[in-house]
Amino acid sequence: QSFFKPIQGAAPPPPNSRNTKITVVGVGNVGMAIAQTILTQDLADEIALVDVNGDKLRGEMLDLQHAAAFLPRTKISASVDYSSTHGSDLVIVTAGARQISGESRLNLLQRNLSLFSKLIPPLAAASPESILLVVSNPVDVLTYVAWKLSGFPSNRVIGSGTNLDSSRFRFLIADHLDLNAQDVQAYIVGEHGDSSVALWSSISVGGVPILSFLERQQIAYEKQTLAKIHKEVVEGAYEVIRLKGYTSWAIGYSVASLARSILRDQHSIHPVSVLAKGFYGIDGGEPFLSLPAQLGRSGVLGVTNVHLTEDETNQLRESAKTILELQSQLGL
Ligand code: NAI
Ligand code: 2OP
Repeated sequence: QSFFKPIQGAAPPPPNSRNTKITVVGVGNVGMAIAQTILTQDLADEIALVDVNGDKLRGEMLDLQHAAAFLPRTKISASVDYSSTHGSDLVIVTAGARQISGESRLNLLQRNLSLFSKLIPPLAAASPESILLVVSNPVDVLTYVAWKLSGFPSNRVIGSGTNLDSSRFRFLIADHLDLNAQDVQAYIVGEHGDSSVALWSSISVGGVPILSFLERQQIAYEKQTLAKIHKEVVEGAYEVIRLKGYTSWAIGYSVASLARSILRDQHSIHPVSVLAKGFYGIDGGEPFLSLPAQLGRSGVLGVTNVHLTEDETNQLRESAKTILELQSQLGL
C-alpha cells in the first residue's frame, strides 16, 4: 500500500521512464571520489558499487546512503557479486593496485592485468549495451585489455586518459597567466603518464591562440617556462602520491565530467584514451591513447582533427610506441 493516496480523477502513472544506472567497480580512494562526485552532480538514478572487500563496500554504501537528506535522490546498492551491475548504462572500473611513492603507472600492469581478466568478462556480460570507462592504471593499456576482453565495439570502451592531465595543464597555465582555468583551452594527449604530449601549438584563451599572440606582441616567452609547466603536469601525480599516498579528488571530478558528457549526450570534447590506430600516422598495432574525442550517449562519436606541429606529431608517435610495446607483450 502506498503512503500517498491518488487525487480524484488521476490517471495511472506512465510506465517507468528511463533509469540511468552507473556501476563503480572498486570502492577505494578513486572509486569513492568518483561515486560521491556523481552523486552530488545528480548524474544517475542508481549507483551500483562493487568490490572484493565486502566490509569496506557495505561501510562505504551506508556512509553515502546516510547523506541522502542532502543529496538528489539516487538508489545506492553494493555487492561483491557482478550480477548486481546488471543493465548499467556506464561501468566505471577503478579496481586494482595503485602506485607507491615513486613507482611508475606502467609498473602496475601485471598486477592489474590478471584482475581485469577476472572482472571485465562478467561486467560485460551483465551490461552488454553499456559503455566501459577504465580508470585503473596503467589506464591506456588496461583500456585496450578491457576492449579485447569485453568484445565491445571500440566506441564503447574509453579510458579516462589525459582528461586529468589536461586539467592539471589548464590549472598551471591559468595560474601562470592569472586566468580562470575554465577559459583555457589546452590539451595533453598520448599516454596518461610519463610520455604524455603537451599540445602547445593549440592552446587558446577566449578564442585567442596563445603562442602566436605572444609572438605577435613580441612578449618574450621562454621555452624553458613551457617545458617546466609540462614537467609539473607529469610530476603532479607523483608529488600528490608522495604527499598523501594517492590521488583522488581531481580524478573524481575528471571522471564525473566524462560521465556527464556520455550519459547526457553532450557531444563535448575530452582528451580520453581511444583506439588511436590511423590517427596522426599512428600504425603498427592497435594502441589506446588519448586524443581529443567527442563524447555522447553512444560513447566516442569521433576524434577531432586538431592541428599538431611536426614535433608534437613525433612525440605522439613515440608515446604510441611505448604503449604498443607493452600491449604486444600481453598476448591478447
Ligand atoms: P585503492 O587501493 O584505494 O582501491 C582499490 C580498490 O580495488 C580496493 O577497494 C580493492 O578492494 C578493490 N579491488 C581489488 N580487486 C578487486 C576486484 N577483483 N573487484 C573489485 N574490486 C577490487 O586504490 P585507488 O587509490 O582507489 O586507485 C585505484 C586505481 O586507480 C589504481 O590503479 C590507480 O593507479 C588508478 N588511478 C587512476 C587514475 C587515472 O587518472 N586514470 C587517477 C588515480 C588513480
Ligand atoms: C593520477 O594521475 C595516479 O594516474 C594517477 O592521478
